[in-house]
Amino acid sequence: VKKIAVLTSGGDSQGMNAAVRAVVRSGLYHGLEVFAVQRGYSGLINDDIREMDLRSVGDIIQRGGTILQTARCKEFVTPEGQQLAADNLRKRGIDGLVVIGGDGSYQGANKLSKLGIKTMGLPGTIDNDIPFTDFTIGFDTAVSIVVDAINKIRDTMSSHERSSIVEVMGRHCGDIALYAGLASGAETILVPEVPYDLDEIANRMTENFSQGKRHSIIIVAEGVGKGENISAEIMKRNGIEPRVTVLGHIQRGGTPTHNDRILASSLGDFAVRRLIAGDSGKACGMVKGELVATDIDTVVHTKKQFNMELYELSKRLSQ
Ligand code: F6P
Repeated sequence: VKKIAVLTSGGDSQGMNAAVRAVVRSGLYHGLEVFAVQRGYSGLINDDIREMDLRSVGDIIQRGGTILQTARCKEFVTPEGQQLAADNLRKRGIDGLVVIGGDGSYQGANKLSKLGIKTMGLPGTIDNDIPFTDFTIGFDTAVSIVVDAINKIRDTMSSHERSSIVEVMGRHCGDIALYAGLASGAETILVPEVPYDLDEIANRMTENFSQGKRHSIIIVAEGVGKGENISAEIMKRNGIEPRVTVLGHIQRGGTPTHNDRILASSLGDFAVRRLIAGDSGKACGMVKGELVATDIDTVVHTKKQFNMELYELSKRLSQ
């Protein structure tokens, strides 16, 4: 490849900018011409593409969001849209593309790769729902934000001897709830991957309060349902009404942690090197400290395994 492009797509995540910087700087280091596509796949369709230089990605490694902006593009789902996107790249002589995004973005990358564009995917999502990588770019920062919020909620819950429900993002994946729950000592972690029993939760809460516990934190992954509904169900069973906090989009903003910046930098550089080596149609990831490239087709058809060991650990420690 001689010319490559980079785009960010789907929900943004902290560390996307660090990944864009790595792709641009690594590409230039290796003598490639590097382009950036604005607004994800809709920028490809609308030909919103500009050439990048070393300075175009200065002062962004520490910023949340994405300087390339992002979108969820309906037009790109059609075969016509995909063909137009591929043609727009080809007419500029761009033969390699790095897509930074989540599950939906990978499906788009898979389509473009089948149309002959050499494509690499980087896992950019707070959800940690992409298989063949231990962590996705943004997950570490999102979990830190949740842990920080729970610390604050815990202070006021203890003063008032209350119970609290914290609803977190993650779409169909319970990882944000699991990791943040374990790291903040939440009493109960509800995730879509594991069935739960509200009677048992309500009884345990009553018992804990009667034995002198001063607060109780339940963390609910959005894939389980609304925190408000869980609170109402608990109230029906034991008369205690947990206060509900929905953390929402604060989980997706703010400066990325060093872990996310290093993951993004390593994966961005790896994707460029794989393209130069002639690879295509791959999703890049880090597994047990090793950089790996897996067929995107396999990645989009595989469900990420839930970490039951960590879940069991959180249960053992939260009694
Ligand atoms: O995929 C990232 C994510 O933040 C999910 O956790 C959440 O379900 C969704 O995006 C929210 O999407 P939107 O920002 O479009 O409301």
